[in-house]
Amino acid sequence: MKLNQDQQNILDGKYGPGAQLAIKIQIAIGESFGAKRMVPITRAHVALSNQDADLWLAEKMVDMGAKCRIAPTVNPGWCLDYFKSRNLVSDEDYKMMERTHNAYKKLGAILTYNCTPYIDTNVPNFGEVVAFSESSATPYVNAVWGARSNREGANSALFAAITGYVPEYGLLFDENRKGNILVDVKADMKNDYCYHMLGMCGKKIGHGIPVFTGLPKHISPEAFRNLGAQLNTSGAYDMYHIVGVTPEAKDIETAFGGKEPERKVTITNEDFDEILETISLEGDREIDFVMFGCPHFTINECIYINNKINGRKLEKEMYILTSSHVKEMAELMGIDEKLESLGAHIVPSTCPDQPCWKFIKGKVGLTESPKCAYYPKRRGIDFVIRDLDTCIEGAVTGRVK
Ligand code: F3S
Repeated sequence: MKLNQDQQNILDGKYGPGAQLAIKIQIAIGESFGAKRMVPITRAHVALSNQDADLWLAEKMVDMGAKCRIAPTVNPGWCLDYFKSRNLVSDEDYKMMERTHNAYKKLGAILTYNCTPYIDTNVPNFGEVVAFSESSATPYVNAVWGARSNREGANSALFAAITGYVPEYGLLFDENRKGNILVDVKADMKNDYCYHMLGMCGKKIGHGIPVFTGLPKHISPEAFRNLGAQLNTSGAYDMYHIVGVTPEAKDIETAFGGKEPERKVTITNEDFDEILETISLEGDREIDFVMFGCPHFTINECIYINNKINGRKLEKEMYILTSSHVKEMAELMGIDEKLESLGAHIVPSTCPDQPCWKFIKGKVGLTESPKCAYYPKRRGIDFVIRDLDTCIEGAVTGRVK
């Protein structure tokens, strides 16, 4: 790998042992992908997880004197104030989240605790080279914004934030951004929930860069978010194209770079039905709670839920996970107070895959997100999956069909 003077200085330890270790590992990653040089980044997002390995690395970097050159936004752990003030967490779990918070604070991260930064707080321009980890984030910045990021891990994105560089390989090159699988969508894409289900078709789509046809011209930010999140729940995707919609797919020839697709797949309503059967608990039952916001919900979704509930008292509690700034907006708008009085809680800076949810262990939830159902399973929380409107009605009646 050919290094410039600044990169060589980092490697020689001029900026301390933390940055030195970070670039050493980046060089090793780059060499394994055949990268010939490192290139500067302008943005990063670190999928902080508040789990043992994440905390170990962040604290190690702090102890070695590392500081981020590019302040990254970070994923949610769980909100210390929210859960502590309600007495829902153990001292041990509290201490761990506090250590995670302190480590990332010392590293100079922007403590957004939000997994959808690409919608409002960390939005790259077309062609910008960035280092984004997080399942819905990498495909969003590549496909929707036309920025360039490889599918970083939480650790490699942190190293990139520390050094300010990434090894040049993969999606940083034009030729690797072209599609190779034609996915003709015949399913009825009537709402944002359908993009969750489309994303869950990863097994049928197969490995590569999908090029979707048959989708509507207007696709909401929430639908793009859902598609990326579930593509990386059912498979591993860093890029996709939607013909006539995403910026590198003005037509089908451009999306495929003039080549023929290697594979053609058709997705139908039957595919969605089959997938739902395998990933959801059976319906026609009582549920214990409703959870939304995996990935984090937007203010528009909070408004939508408030309108749909329309002042009705909920039979079962509803948790709406979102960022602290969406929570603040909901407070300013009076939505937060209104929802709270009905039994719906807007929870900031929190992910369902965290120890703060021990108090719902063994209960049955209802959600519109397959990812929300997937991760908490290992924590003993199971879900029925239905579309958003059905889930809202489920919270009102306490049952789901
Ligand atoms: Fe976000 Fe956690 Fe879900 S990071 S996508 S809320 S698993």
